[in-house]
Amino acid sequence: MNTAIPFVDLRRQYESIATEIAPALAAVIDQTAFIGGGFVERFERDFAAYCEAEHCIGVANGTDALELSLRALGIGPGDEVITVANTFIASAAAITTAGATPVFVDVDPDTYQMDAALLEAAITPRTRAIMPVHLYGHPADLDAILAVAQAHGLFVIEDTCQAHGARYKGRRVGALGHVGCFSFYPGKNLGAYGDGGAIVTNSGAIAGAIRRLADHGRVDKYRHAVVGRNSRLDGLQAAVLSVKLRHLDRWNAARREIAAALTARLGPLPVVTPAVAPGVEPVFHLYVIRTDERDRLQGALADEGIASGIHYPIPLHLQPAYAGVARAAGLGPGSFPVAEGHASRILSLPIFAELREAEIERICAVLDRALSPVLV
Ligand SMILES: Cc1ncc(COP(=O)(O)O)c(C=O)c1O
Repeated sequence: MNTAIPFVDLRRQYESIATEIAPALAAVIDQTAFIGGGFVERFERDFAAYCEAEHCIGVANGTDALELSLRALGIGPGDEVITVANTFIASAAAITTAGATPVFVDVDPDTYQMDAALLEAAITPRTRAIMPVHLYGHPADLDAILAVAQAHGLFVIEDTCQAHGARYKGRRVGALGHVGCFSFYPGKNLGAYGDGGAIVTNSGAIAGAIRRLADHGRVDKYRHAVVGRNSRLDGLQAAVLSVKLRHLDRWNAARREIAAALTARLGPLPVVTPAVAPGVEPVFHLYVIRTDERDRLQGALADEGIASGIHYPIPLHLQPAYAGVARAAGLGPGSFPVAEGHASRILSLPIFAELREAEIERICAVLDRALSPVLV
């Protein structure tokens, strides 16, 4: 019996850096630098530099990064923010918890990213921002999105939670719009050993506003300019992230090589492999294929102990949580044909830097067999 192939194997990654992690954690404990302090400051500095951004603010998770960014930009009740229908619910939930209303648009059928051609029609006098999501680690069509935003005086908040290190026309995603929001959930390309998040921006004013909101609106110890809250990246997570940041480019390159190997092997089969738009360097947080036989293929993989996922099975305008928003906007089944069509066909295969060649071969062999016509 073959051993199981997990969707992500955090143990394998840990074992490859264990000798660096142990002293990093010990140093935080030794200095009791649990909240704030040098480890957080160092990671913020290094991650800003990595993202080619001027500022980085560590926060508690990616959802907070999005919500605090929206609030720092003054976006709240009565405002609308345009985002995609095919993302993880946190993108839209951050808009809702900031008090604003998410306005969904459909996506490009090949890249799965925000279809910039649909933005103009979605803009109303209440629109304040556009939130593209660099879904699966593939950059959204930023030039087109930024052009629309500029023409209408809108902010661009990049949901970069799945795209640490990806490049758009040679530049890192994250600080190409007004703010970029990252999640360091353990399974992300850059993941902490718990929750974590960050915002990057080139604006000192925006950075200052976010930092203040994330720290109880504090001006100094017991004077508070606005009602903020507590959203912190802690010292232990920052120390882990600083170690892992040194390996991120190598891990992302490994993901691209694995994606190329999967695409070469799956290309001849009747499945649609991921498209890469010209001028972008994706980081393959997820490797997503498309097939009319999705459920059967997922079953065939599971029978062989191979994990897979669906990102995401229900577009946001069809989620019970967004029934009210959908009703008010006149949305329902059929409103976003691309996102809806994909939802029943997409399948995410295992991908992580330590995935072995033999495992790639086994995944492809199972799909090959499942898709081969039965000869009688
Ligand atoms: C696209 C997207 N946005 C937002 C988030 C929220 O991040 P977090 O889980 O750290 O709050 C995630 C991660 O789960 C995500 O994938």
